[in-house]
Amino acid sequence: MHTAVEERIIRPARNILGSLRLPGDKSISHRYGMLAAFAEGTSRFTNFSTGADCASTLACMQALGAKVTKLGEGAVEVTGVGGRVTPSSEPLDCGNSGSTMRMISGLLAPQEGTFTLIGDASLSRRPMERIRKPLAEMGAKLTLTEGHAPLMIEGARLNAMDYTTPVPSAQVKSCILLAGLQTAGITTVREAIRTRDHSELALRAFGAEVKRASDSVSISGPQKLKAIDAAVPGDISSAAFFLCAAALFPGSSLVLDSLGLNPTRATLLDVLTALGAHIAVLNLEEKNAELVGTVQVTAPPDGLRSTTISGGLAAQLIDELPVLAAIAPYTSGGIRIRDAKELRVKESDRIALVAQNLRAMGAEVEEFEDGLDVPGGQTLHGATIDSGGDHRIAMAFSVAALRAEGDTLIQGAESAAISFPEFFNLLDFVAER
Ligand code: S3P
Repeated sequence: MHTAVEERIIRPARNILGSLRLPGDKSISHRYGMLAAFAEGTSRFTNFSTGADCASTLACMQALGAKVTKLGEGAVEVTGVGGRVTPSSEPLDCGNSGSTMRMISGLLAPQEGTFTLIGDASLSRRPMERIRKPLAEMGAKLTLTEGHAPLMIEGARLNAMDYTTPVPSAQVKSCILLAGLQTAGITTVREAIRTRDHSELALRAFGAEVKRASDSVSISGPQKLKAIDAAVPGDISSAAFFLCAAALFPGSSLVLDSLGLNPTRATLLDVLTALGAHIAVLNLEEKNAELVGTVQVTAPPDGLRSTTISGGLAAQLIDELPVLAAIAPYTSGGIRIRDAKELRVKESDRIALVAQNLRAMGAEVEEFEDGLDVPGGQTLHGATIDSGGDHRIAMAFSVAALRAEGDTLIQGAESAAISFPEFFNLLDFVAER
């Protein structure tokens, strides 16, 4: 069970107005941090994610021999191990971070030595068979505890392979690519639904050759990585809370600059547009193959409409679904979510917790194994929200609270710091009361 250590009261807002620059993308920071720590030379990053998850990645890589220096204000310098890690006598603590555990496993499976990976209570409940299976197919020696962490790796020489992922997962794809990077031959990952491609882009930025086809990615190994200097784009999954908040208030205007707009991540902008919000994208540029731009959102004068999110859309929006479901009662026609079973094995069972917390606020909601139906045109009241120690639940319901009648108490509010420690301060900054 999660113990809620911090409570936050969210008061209703009258409007959302302002301009923000958000901290660096969590997914990209994990990859830049991990690849820099594995590469040859010293990499320098600005706007690196301030979240606890990326700190877990950096701490693990430090324990494996990389040198990490935090220069303050999101600036980080990482000196890599040049392709060969030093096994750590202590277990590597991945904290709450599934990305850290799943990607590092791929990096370590072909290395010499033995490694133990552990995580917090939530991470220790999450499925790890999805990485054990492909890595074992490559010849890796990986042991789980009933399908979960703690995870033990005995480094071994691997064989290249051609693998089709059974569930859409960028973490699994990245895990295999990191093993393939160090393995002779061509390793291919095929996916039915294209997941976020930050690993492919980051590997290329660090000098590796990665080939892409419409439904597959291939890497030929072994290849060496070279240090880079990079600015991490603002995190669009963190921006989602502010974009959705602004979309709720006619008369709102919110500008987010230097925001990551990688097409495999920016589907939320299409959904908000479908709901009737006005989105403008300005100053689009490419940095290390990642698209970055300024986004302005204004709410429709007559309120948000309705939409259905299913199929490939659900996979691409997986981190944004909790906040979309949380604002759905305020739309006119509701939001229907399907094909999102993966939400049940995130930091919490996000389908169950979203339904529970919407009901606590007085909303009607129907729960399905792979999604939710949230009718529109509802009035919500302030309530006590159980975040379950899940950062995205804490933040999603802070947004729902802005349009509720009365105050809302968020239990376990400290969990926001997993991805977005600045969240509550920034929310206060743009919320007009
Ligand atoms: C991530 C991939 C997604 C996402 C997570 C970050 C990544 O997880 O939910 O927040 O950085 O690759 P899955 O790969 O499990 O879908």
